[in-house]
Amino acid sequence: MDFTEDEYKEIAAQLRKPNGELGEIVAEKMNEGNLLMNQNTIKALNISDSDSILEIGMGNGFFVKDILSLADGLHYIGCDYSEDMVLLSQKVNARFIDSGSARFFHRKAEELPVGDSSIDILFTVNTLYFWEDHTAILSEFRRVLNQNGKLILSFRPAEVMELYPPTKYNFDYYSKEEAADLLKEYGLEVLEVQEFEEPPIERDGQSFPPKHVILISGISKT
Ligand SMILES: C[S@@+](CC[C@H](N)C(=O)[O-])C[C@H]1O[C@@H](n2cnc3c(N)ncnc32)[C@H](O)[C@@H]1O
Repeated sequence: MDFTEDEYKEIAAQLRKPNGELGEIVAEKMNEGNLLMNQNTIKALNISDSDSILEIGMGNGFFVKDILSLADGLHYIGCDYSEDMVLLSQKVNARFIDSGSARFFHRKAEELPVGDSSIDILFTVNTLYFWEDHTAILSEFRRVLNQNGKLILSFRPAEVMELYPPTKYNFDYYSKEEAADLLKEYGLEVLEVQEFEEPPIERDGQSFPPKHVILISGISKT
């Protein structure tokens, strides 16, 4: 299927901040296209009983059930700046909200609704491309993480993103080195770099060879 440049622009805007009926469809497509990436990220979280977990940009919250199945007494908080994604996440995860193990907030990464040093695991998948104010976001991440807390950042690296036409509209690309340097600049030390190749997928009429990077970092002790 061929897309026009205007359609690519619309897809790009929806990936950045899904909304309305199209946003609902895009969120479902992301769950399929980013399945392996989300599964690998969830493994990398290395969750223990009673952890406080904060996710930025959970889309429709499809993977929350997988996180909460990994240990007992978990507290999951999801923040997304798309109100429609928050509403969908609340619908999809109503049973976890009722049991007190999940909460969702309409918030941007720069203003997180949690106290200082209150989070054990902070993670975000496929949002790095949209960060506008690095200082505000990474300072906020530092504020909410406890001293032994981990930040897990998952993204598709520049060499892959460049091949996907919508990303020329207002996406920032990062190599794994650039992303690691960015974290370091804000006092987050990269402890482990994981890289995964994936089988090619068809997206918007194009064959797209996905690959993702997961950076596991902690607050630098020096
Ligand atoms: C490309 S989607 C990724 C969804 C899911 N994490 C995945 O990988 O399939 C980006 C999601 O993050 C949200 N988002 C992007 N930047 C954000 C920010 N600065 N603060 C909060 N949410 C953000 C968007 O609204 C959207 O739901």
